[in-house]
Parts: sequence; C-alpha cells; structure tokens
Amino acid sequence: MGEHAKIFPGFWPYGDQVILGCIHNVGLGRFKGLVSTTAFLFLFSFVLIAALFNWMQVPIIQGSPLAHMSFTSRSNKMPHERVEFPLNCSIAALQGKKCPNKYPSVFEPDESSTETCPDYFRWIHQDLQQWKTSGITEDMIERGKASAHFRLVIVGGNVYVEKYTRPYQTRDVFTKWGILQLLRLYPGKVPDLDLLFYSGDETKIMRSDYQGPNSTLAPPLFHYCGSEETLDIVFPDWTFWGWAEVNIMPWEDMLRAIKKGRKRTKWEQREPYAFWKGNPHVAKNRLDLMKCNLSDQYDWNVRLYYKNWSKVVDEGFNYSKLEDQCTYRYKIYIEGSTWSVSKKYILACDSMTLMIKPRYFDFFSRSMVPMQHYWPIRRQDKCRDLKFAVEWGNNHTQQAQDIGKAGSKFIEEILTMRNVYNYMFHLLNEYSKLLKYKPMVPSKARRICVESTACKQKGVWKEFLFQSLVKSPSHKPPCELPPPYEPQAIQASMDKIDNVDKQVENWGNVYWNKLNETNQ
Ligand SMILES: *[C@@H]1O[C@H](CO)[C@@H](O)[C@H](O)[C@H]1NC(C)=O
Ligand SMILES: *[C@@H]1O[C@H](CO)[C@@H](O)[C@H](O)[C@H]1NC(C)=O
Ligand SMILES: *[C@@H]1O[C@H](CO)[C@@H](O)[C@H](O)[C@H]1NC(C)=O
Ligand SMILES: *[C@@H]1O[C@H](CO)[C@@H](O)[C@H](O)[C@H]1NC(C)=O
Ligand SMILES: *[C@@H]1O[C@H](CO)[C@@H](O)[C@H](O)[C@H]1NC(C)=O
Ligand SMILES: *[C@@H]1O[C@H](CO)[C@@H](O)[C@H](O)[C@H]1NC(C)=O
Ligand SMILES: *[C@@H]1O[C@H](CO)[C@@H](O)[C@H](O)[C@H]1NC(C)=O
Repeated sequence: MGEHAKIFPGFWPYGDQVILGCIHNVGLGRFKGLVSTTAFLFLFSFVLIAALFNWMQVPIIQGSPLAHMSFTSRSNKMPHERVEFPLNCSIAALQGKKCPNKYPSVFEPDESSTETCPDYFRWIHQDLQQWKTSGITEDMIERGKASAHFRLVIVGGNVYVEKYTRPYQTRDVFTKWGILQLLRLYPGKVPDLDLLFYSGDETKIMRSDYQGPNSTLAPPLFHYCGSEETLDIVFPDWTFWGWAEVNIMPWEDMLRAIKKGRKRTKWEQREPYAFWKGNPHVAKNRLDLMKCNLSDQYDWNVRLYYKNWSKVVDEGFNYSKLEDQCTYRYKIYIEGSTWSVSKKYILACDSMTLMIKPRYFDFFSRSMVPMQHYWPIRRQDKCRDLKFAVEWGNNHTQQAQDIGKAGSKFIEEILTMRNVYNYMFHLLNEYSKLLKYKPMVPSKARRICVESTACKQKGVWKEFLFQSLVKSPSHKPPCELPPPYEPQAIQASMDKIDNVDKQVENWGNVYWNKLNETNQ
C-alpha cells in the first residue's frame, strides 16, 4: 500500500480504477527545495519518461491496471473505457492564453444512482428557502455585487468570472478551481447559472434586513459560512483544494496524512490534556481561551500554543504540521473571527473534540451531534467546562475514545471529496432552478478554465492545483438529494442539541459545586 502510494501520489478518489495517466501528476513540487540539482534532473527525466509513456497510453485507457485486484470489482458489468482529460500546460502555451474548446460535455455514467446523499445535504433547501417563492432576479444580483468578490457565470459548461475586488490570499483562485473540477467530474450536468461569491471571513447578508416587504430584495451571496442571523449561502471553503499560503494540502491528501499521523500515538498514550494551537489574536473568544492555559496558579487540564504564522513560514513549515498534532487525547475547536477551517483537521485526529459552542456553521457541521461527535463547551465558563470534560474523559476513557472515533468517522466517511462535489452539484443545481432569467455572460467577464488557472501558478500553488485536479469524469452520477427537513424536524433536532448541551452543562455545574463545597 505504501509503495502504491509512492507511485500514485496523485490519488484517485473517485472510483474503483486507478489510471495510468496519474503518473504525469507526480507532484514535482512535493520535493520542492528539498532535492539537489542532480536529484532534480534525475527526477525530471523520470517525469519525462513517465510523461512519454503516459502520452502513448492516453487519452483512452482500456480497463483498469488494477482490475485483477478483485476487491474493486463489484459488478460484472464491463466498466466504460476511461477517458482522461489531462492538463497539459505546454499545449496550452502553444495555443496562446485561450481556453481550449474541446472539453467534454457529455456525461455517460456506467452506473445509475442508488445512493442518497448524507443528511447534511438537506440544509441546501434551507439555505435557499429565502428565494423559494420570489425566485432570484437580476435585480437581486445587482444589489449583491457590492458584497461580492466576484461573480461567476456558467453558460454551456464554460465558466466566466467578473472580478470585483481582491480577496485575502488566493481563496478565490482555489474556490473557482473547485468549481472547474466539478464541471470535469460531471460534464454536461451542471446547469447554466449566475452567482455572486464572497470569500472573506465575516457573514454579509443579514436576515433582519430582509423581512416583510423587503424580503424580495435579498441578494443571494455564496460564502463559506453562515449563521442563524444571516442569509449567506454556504459553500465548501477553498481548503478542500488546498491552502497554499500555509502549506495545507488538498483535503484528500491532508486527511491521508493525518490518518497516518494519528496512528503514531495510541489514544491511551496521548497527553491527557486538551490541546489547541493557533493564532488567538483574531477573536476575543480565542483571547479568552488563553486564560485557561496552564499557569503557576492553576491547571485547567488545557495546553495552548501560540502559532506565529510568519515564524511557521520562516521555518519552512517543518515544526507545525497538522499530521503531527494528534498527540493529545482532547483537541479544542474554537472559532476564529467566524467559522474556522481547522474543524475538519481537528476532528480527524481520533481525539475527543471539545467544541466551544460555535456561532457559525459551514456546509457540513449542522449535522454534527454533541456527545456523539464532540463534547460541547460553553463560550462563557470555558476553563471550568474544559477541566471537567478532560477529567471526565480520563475517568471514562472508553466513552471519550468513542466520541473521538465517531467524530473522525464523520469526517472521513461523510466529508469525502466525492461528497464535497456532490454537495456543490446539488446546491448549484437547486440554485439554478430559482433563477428567473437566462444567465448570460456579463460583458466584463473573462472565461476561466483549468489551463488559464493552473499553468501560470508557481510553487505550492501549482502543486496543490495539479494535485486536486479531477482527471476523468465520474463513472457514476451524483447521489440523490434528500428532501427538505420538515420545519418541525429542524426544531426537534435543534431542541435535541440544546438538551444535550444543557445536560452536559449540568454535569459540569454539579461537579464544580461539589469541588466548591469540599474546598470550603
Ligand atoms: C504535453 O504536450 C506536449 C506538446 O504536444 C507533449 O510533447 C507532451 O508530451 C505533453 N505532456 C503530457 C504530460 O501529456
Ligand atoms: C427595507 O425597507 C425599509 C423600509 O421599510 C428601508 O428603510 C430599508 O432601507 C430597506 N432595506 C433595504 C436593504 O433595502
Ligand atoms: C501555555 O502554557 C505552556 C506551558 O506552560 C507554554 O509552553 C505555552 O507557551 C503557553 N501558551 C501560550 C499561548 O501562552
Ligand atoms: C513572529 O515571527 C516573526 C518571524 O519569525 C517574528 O519576527 C515576530 O516577532 C513574531 N511575532 C510574535 C508576536 O512573536
Ligand atoms: C525543513 O526541513 C528540511 C528537511 O528536513 C530541511 O532540509 C530544511 O532546511 C528545513 N527548513 C528550515 C527552514 O528549517
Ligand atoms: C474522576 O475520578 C476521580 C476519582 O474517582 C473523582 O474524584 C472525580 O470526581 C472524577 N471526575 C469526573 C469529572 O468524573
Ligand atoms: C465555585 O466557586 C467559584 C469561586 O468561588 C465561583 O466563581 C463559581 O461560580 C462556583 N461554581 C459553582 C458551580 O457554583
């Protein structure tokens, strides 16, 4: 398996077949700055040979090179010939800066859909509820422009972008890249649409501004997070395709690394404390958490570490790897200025997650359940809740491990890249049904494609884009979107979460009352 991973670092998460064509994606950048010139030349010639070999094999690979490994063959139906759409920057350069027109537009899955999407997909209906009766008009788009970083239009399977302002780092590049990959995974399936995207942290569209007669004015704005007070439409964040600035790999690769890393220290052998590492200076809530750190006066069972990002960058990311951070039995999740992308990495550790009650949600977190996937911690009273949770876990190691495992399982099995694409597909599909007009390419928009996005990039940016490239269309259609939750069901599930939270708070209060009594 290890050997296999070495040969095919460009993983293939989308099906049973591994494609020879993956070889040309051996990420050169994997070895960035770490190899001597000779080693680089050697590697380069290897890649050239691999590319040549690859060129002779593609675009159509007959069957699967691993077909004899029978764990992969579930049906006796012959799989389709697998078509590959390589990204070749030298061809792109020859053709000038234009995007090629030969993209696949037909989708012919081998299998029909039988699976229903996970429960969190049901929130798609909820997030679009505001526009259910009014539909989405060009006027609403006009109103939303001021809040957006860019407008993205899909017409006939091609993507056009009108850029308004520059967002932080390259979040927008990776977000648009994700949408381009969706079109490669399900060619011909993503309908024409017109949307606005905001890629900052804070939520933008306040629900209270669009009540009563104003309710037909609400601009639909895609964003990475939402809250009960807002109408922002929640979309997967850029880190699923990589966060180049801080060297966090695309999600599949990062998850694989964390799974490997967490095996190094068994739960029992992990430090019996609650761990958090990050930048506290982005939110009052985080600064408040810092008061719980170990001090001369008191031990709250909490170990906090300051992450100085500029130092981390200076050190070449050598001492701050997420995959090396599964060494504590408990890991704290705390929001930054809004939601934090750290949630999935924290939950993936198999440690019990101590979740400081969030105010914001991302697309998957609304289906997570306290005491099943994580242990809830109050925002006020953090230190006492944390101390109690850790002591409880150390007294009930089996239950604590179970909660840790269930959290990781949710992340590994439900938050697969396939489901991230499925979520995007259904959200965009439902959204497009609400449009009251035929999407047209805005006059100031420019067409984007994988070539125009990736070929001009350098270093880790280029590496991550190539690593997360979808190389072939899916062999099966997207999962089936489950129906909306009944309003009563949403209320019931919110009540249930509240009840569990209250129960845990009560346990904490009882524990502290007892401690107070004995100390008096
Ligand atoms: C990319 O295209 C060039 C020019 O046609 C070709 O020589 C090269 O082998 C191609 N590379 C890959 C990886 O397909
Ligand atoms: C909503 O309506 C009120 C008047 O009822 C108006 O003052 C306000 O500006 C409107 N808000 C928006 C966002 O148009
Ligand atoms: C928290 O305490 C530990 C142990 O004393 C120390 O190493 C660490 O730097 C402290 N963290 C912060 C953020 O001050
Ligand atoms: C963070 O690291 C940089 C570079 O290593 C250093 O110059 C800076 O003083 C550090 N900041 C803090 C708050 O420690
Ligand atoms: C990071 O680690 C690599 C390999 O261990 C080493 O070659 C490199 O010099 C280190 N970088 C820094 C800045 O310490
Ligand atoms: C953990 O066990 C110790 C010893 O039995 C007990 O004193 C303490 O109250 C327990 N704490 C919790 C939170 O269960
Ligand atoms: C325990 O005592 C502390 C300090 O005396 C007090 O702040 C806290 O509210 C008490 N806790 C409970 C649960 O009564």
